[in-house]
Amino acid sequence: MKDVIVIKIGGVAAQKLSTSFIEQVKNWVDNGKKIILVHGGGVVINQLLLERHLPSRKIKGLRVTNQSDIPIIKKALLDIVGQGLTQQFNQADIDSIQLVSHLGQTVSADYIDKSIYGYVGQVTDIHSSYLEQLLDDHIIPVLASLGENADGQLLNINADYLAAAVAKKFQAEKLILMTDTQGVLEDKKVLPQILTSQVPQKIQKGIIKDGMIPKIESAVQTVLSGVSQVWIGNSLSAGTLIAEG
Ligand SMILES: Nc1ncnc2c1ncn2[C@@H]1O[C@H](COP(=O)(O)OP(=O)(O)OP(=O)(O)O)[C@@H](O)[C@H]1O
Ligand SMILES: [Mg+2]
Repeated sequence: MKDVIVIKIGGVAAQKLSTSFIEQVKNWVDNGKKIILVHGGGVVINQLLLERHLPSRKIKGLRVTNQSDIPIIKKALLDIVGQGLTQQFNQADIDSIQLVSHLGQTVSADYIDKSIYGYVGQVTDIHSSYLEQLLDDHIIPVLASLGENADGQLLNINADYLAAAVAKKFQAEKLILMTDTQGVLEDKKVLPQILTSQVPQKIQKGIIKDGMIPKIESAVQTVLSGVSQVWIGNSLSAGTLIAEG
């Protein structure tokens, strides 16, 4: 859909949106852009698990999730990070709505591999009607990285994968994966651009690792699906451009 911009924001950046972030979002909304916000919450989840003396374990950048972790993850994402985001938007006079009861029916998911990752999902479908309704009303939908499987079980989804699925579904004009680094780094320098064909080698060499693996994989999938502008960085206006080639 023309004019759709999907922004994924990590847990750290979501806690306090910068003035430049707020200004840019306002500017886009005023110019008729339709923004969808997807957020993770890694740091807050880690904190809640730590307080409960529960381990945090990741494989290939994905959080291994026990069934008993799900209520904790839900609390971190919905009650802390997502609510904090909508509050900050509302204070800045930006209309936004956090998906809570509509989230499960909007994001369909299935286990990636229950024996390895537990209750971690991959997106199987995005049902866009509620999102479209909000966008038509000039309201920013705020989505936590959760989905529901066919049995109604809530699954933890990496927020980068969810943002990619949303960007693909809407054929967005832009996907911005905002994180806590200025972009994809190599030898401590930000790469201005990465071609999709260069990615496997950078992972193999260990240049791209941990949480950057799902992020770059999401970026590549999205670019290959026809979304022309996919960025990774710590602002809405600069970073690493992922390009087809
Ligand atoms: N080549 C690289 N360039 C930049 N960061 C990298 C690279 N390789 C690995 N990383 C790591 O990836 C991290 C970003 O991913 P991470 O999953 O931790 O955060 P996020 O996705 O922004 O937030 P959340 O997981 O809460 O949604 C960086 O902080 C850095 O440690
Ligand atoms: Mg991450």
